[in-house]
Amino acid sequence: MLYRRVARPLFFLLPPEFAHHLSLIALAHTPLASLLAPLARREFPGLERKLFGLTFPNPIGLAAGFDKNAEGLAAWESLGFGFMELGTITPRPQPGNPRPRVFRLPSRQGLINRLGFPNVGAEDVARRLSRIKLAGHWPHIPVGMNIGKNKETPLEEAGRDYLLCFRATRNVADYFVVNVSSPNTPGLRELQQGQFLDSILGPLRDEDPDLRHPLLIKIAPDLSDGQLEEIVRAVDKYRLAGIVATNTTVDKTGLPLQEEGGVSGRPLAARSTEVIRSLHRLTGGRVPIIGVGGVFNADDAKEKLAAGASLLQLYTGFVYEGPFVIRKICEGLL
Ligand SMILES: Cc1cc2nc3c(=O)[nH]c(=O)nc-3n(C[C@H](O)[C@H](O)[C@H](O)COP(=O)(O)O)c2cc1C
Repeated sequence: MLYRRVARPLFFLLPPEFAHHLSLIALAHTPLASLLAPLARREFPGLERKLFGLTFPNPIGLAAGFDKNAEGLAAWESLGFGFMELGTITPRPQPGNPRPRVFRLPSRQGLINRLGFPNVGAEDVARRLSRIKLAGHWPHIPVGMNIGKNKETPLEEAGRDYLLCFRATRNVADYFVVNVSSPNTPGLRELQQGQFLDSILGPLRDEDPDLRHPLLIKIAPDLSDGQLEEIVRAVDKYRLAGIVATNTTVDKTGLPLQEEGGVSGRPLAARSTEVIRSLHRLTGGRVPIIGVGGVFNADDAKEKLAAGASLLQLYTGFVYEGPFVIRKICEGLL
């Protein structure tokens, strides 16, 4: 209530990306998150999940993109998230697209972004994570690393970028997500198909033939049934640990703002759930699915779990509902 009545209206007076930076600074670099922890964080033993060798104290995770550079690990744990996904990182640092590049759709509870993977680069993120590990401050919740390619890297050479990101961070993250689904890096989503997919997943699998590091793939919501079948074949062929479904959509039908970029939040919810349901059917339920797209409350979460998701993530729901949303969803699930 306090967030929706006071903090959110103030945040929403600021440009979206600036508001995001402010909240990241406040949560990651001040004691705010630990002050909120007694209210935000609860133990939910009934919601614990064990998947691909990791224990998730609850199924609600922070989606990729919120903490691209691994700044707030302790904060996400303090706020009660059951896991976090950092990144997307790329081998070399890059600034992303020109601003403005994030837009709100308040009447639809959505966002449009075309950030284009601004990040400090894989090596820097790896160093940051190593320091946290060495200092004994590693969180007690799983830490995922979402990996991508630099904007200038040609699609034919993309496999090398993913490999470099994996090599840099393999010892400082618990699971890895191949991001081939952001609409904001030209051509990236073509990597979800055929030879390109092989050229990324093959070398990554060769690098870790004993499946020591769970490797997942994050897909777009705009894939056809045939394309989803192809993804599932690749998941089997390369023995992937799971599928993250979905990234933002390029479908802006009926939206009051037609900015270029990917749509997240409420407008994405139904399609994302549909993709989860299709994947669950195609895999016969044997491949864990991380459901993401328009989760704002316990009903949204239940819908995606019923469709076949084993874990959930949120980004836009966190922006609109605030720091107590994880606790509220978990209580609702119980
Ligand atoms: C501003 C913004 C930045 C994002 N950056 C990334 C990213 O770097 N990598 C990624 O895989 N997904 C990224 N996403 C997509 C989210 O992880 C998520 O898949 C999508 O927003 C749907 O979830 P939501 O409706 O809960 O926001 C981003 C989303 C937003 C809104």
